[in-house]
Amino acid sequence: MKIKPTLKLFFFSCIFLSFSANAIEDKKVLISIDSDALNFTQKKFGPRISEVASRDGISVMKIDEDALPWLSLLMHRNFNRCGGFMRHEDAIEADSFLNSQGEQQFAKNNMFANYKIDQDAIVVPMIDQASPANILATITQLSAFQNRYFKGEFGKKSAAFIKETWTNLVKNRSDATVEYFQHAKWDQPSIILTIKGQSDETIVLGGHQDSINGFNGGATARAPGSDDNASGISTITEVIRVLTNSSYRPQRTLKFMAYAAEEVGLLGSKEIAASYKAKNANVIGVMQLDMTNFKGNGSLDIVMMRDYTNEEQNKFIGTIIDHYVPGIKWGYDKCGYACSDHASWTTQGYPASMPFEATMDTMNHKIHTANDTLSVSNNNASHAVKFAKMALAYMVELDHKL
Ligand code: BES
Ligand code: ZN
Repeated sequence: MKIKPTLKLFFFSCIFLSFSANAIEDKKVLISIDSDALNFTQKKFGPRISEVASRDGISVMKIDEDALPWLSLLMHRNFNRCGGFMRHEDAIEADSFLNSQGEQQFAKNNMFANYKIDQDAIVVPMIDQASPANILATITQLSAFQNRYFKGEFGKKSAAFIKETWTNLVKNRSDATVEYFQHAKWDQPSIILTIKGQSDETIVLGGHQDSINGFNGGATARAPGSDDNASGISTITEVIRVLTNSSYRPQRTLKFMAYAAEEVGLLGSKEIAASYKAKNANVIGVMQLDMTNFKGNGSLDIVMMRDYTNEEQNKFIGTIIDHYVPGIKWGYDKCGYACSDHASWTTQGYPASMPFEATMDTMNHKIHTANDTLSVSNNNASHAVKFAKMALAYMVELDHKL
């Protein structure tokens, strides 16, 4: 098959977590895709793909494993989707995924709609302190690791760096702790910073710490991941700095998370969200920051992803942007698949949002390559700082609601 050069670049800028070079012929695997691609895939793959179940716009399909690379390529070309589908381990996981999506749709309570934006006295001085120079410095430090891959020495070292950075920021706060969340199947731990409030109602601000070179793969290849996702982690780091440097003491519990192993299937956040669900944790809102520092050439500054997110919380965050970050244009788009860790929380029934740096048609095509560097963002963090302001306002406002 002939691939146009531009398409080729796009194709290789995404990773194919599900493909193994020695896939056994005719082995069937389960995937889910958005149902708008259902007819298209059936036309293209005939008997090699079949529908297992569909619900609320999502279809679980059975497909020959060796057809997955072609499915990915076609999803790029015809739907402009990076990856474009999610692979499931077995029928039980696929089924619970489908049902959790449904529950999420049904459980649409409108509590976010009643929230008044009224914390100006706390929020305004805070967002004035959010500094692009600090974000830039952290992106530079994170990008200096050879990679932050979920396996191997570099990804472990970069995790230790994040833990140390966050620990230093809260060293004068007796209400804050920084801990590793260890994962049994790989070495890179996730990192969780907690600011304990009066109540165990919890607000989560997270992003993935790992990076990947999608073409060369592996634990040694250069993967600076400056945008994907040093930008998100550095934005979160600045939010932590400003919040903990103030006299503000939250009523609810605030958690900041740097997830491991997102690039290989949302693995770290899947384990964390499942463990929170298992202990019945009262998480009232989750914000995911994955890619915050490349504006693209579109007119929007902040793009709320519609899929695998909570519609009411998305609107609430939009209102917050209008109120606190005036002059910023925001709008909607969709990934078209479970593209980042917000989907792990949505799957467990928690309200999650994913404010993103650009629309999909103007996205950063350098991600997952050795060229995902700060120069793609003109060596500044003027875009990411808008996300720091939004996230600060989101946490303080949501802390005063319910
Ligand atoms: N940051 C990306 C997701 C993304 C890329 C969102 C481009 C919007 C535009 C994330 O790190 C990622 O690469 N996700 C994987 C999917 C995941 C299930 C492995 C992807 O998109 O291939
Ligand atoms: Zn990525």
